[in-house]
Amino acid sequence: MQRTALNWRQAGIKIGFVPTMGYLHDGHISLVRRARKLVGANSKVVVSIYVNPTQFGPNEDLSRYPRDLKNDKRLCREAGVDLIFFPDDQEMYPGKPEGRYSTYVVEEQLSRGMEGASRPTHFRGVATVVAKLFNIVLPDVAVFGEKDFQQAAVIRRMVADLNFPLKIVVAPTGREPDGLAMSSRNRYLNPDERAQAVALKQTIDRARKTVGSTGVSSARLKQKLAAFIKTFPLARLDYLDVFDPDDLQPVSTAKKGSQLALAVFFGKTRLIDNGRL
Ligand code: PAJ
Repeated sequence: MQRTALNWRQAGIKIGFVPTMGYLHDGHISLVRRARKLVGANSKVVVSIYVNPTQFGPNEDLSRYPRDLKNDKRLCREAGVDLIFFPDDQEMYPGKPEGRYSTYVVEEQLSRGMEGASRPTHFRGVATVVAKLFNIVLPDVAVFGEKDFQQAAVIRRMVADLNFPLKIVVAPTGREPDGLAMSSRNRYLNPDERAQAVALKQTIDRARKTVGSTGVSSARLKQKLAAFIKTFPLARLDYLDVFDPDDLQPVSTAKKGSQLALAVFFGKTRLIDNGRL
């Protein structure tokens, strides 16, 4: 992959990159289209498919994370992807856990709250694998989804702090007709859970209405929204945060322009969503 990328770059061909864990859906494909638009016609778009073990906690869904390479290939072909990079664990983390692999990238500010608080080693794994993928794929531009708002912020910061020579673009969240954010994890939901999974998007919509043009106390807003989520009997709130979209610091007054992010369990399945108020 790296040799191919070097050859492309030497020939003046731009590289657009979309890193994924596979089990692709229209949300992923919208990032591919955005990457193509950004690099233009005489260019290459690369998608990586790798279920990265270092970003999963010990009790998370690594072993049952859904996979369907055949369908992923079809979707990529239809979307005009030039190359799928599909490494295995031995290529990415040689010798792990016995040794030989020992270098990690740790972002120390933006990754502390929300997903980082619920999943302590998650962003270390994400930043490490994305740094490795950038060094292997050598992209001019990489596209990430707003669906994972904090992840995109951590990657942006890593790229700035470590001087990666590429541009990060963040693209909007693709949703199902009822508002549920597309996610590979939606397939874990049984029909009842799937029906109630609209709770996340409806919570964001409700927050927008409550905040209006004047703003409200974040504590009060959080209380109201937690009560709303309780009206979905299968939903169990993990966290709900209102914060400044630039530095991810919690705000005491939720107002227009604040960001809301939440994580909700349905059984063992944990879904996340977020939106600008
Ligand atoms: P994955 O969950 O497969 O997502 C890959 C990319 O697709 C991420 O940038 C994510 O934000 C984006 N994405 C997911 N759902 C989306 C949706 N409904 N609309 C738009 N974009 C969406 O995120 C990861 O993989 C991994 O952490 C990764 C960055 C690949 C590192 O392992």
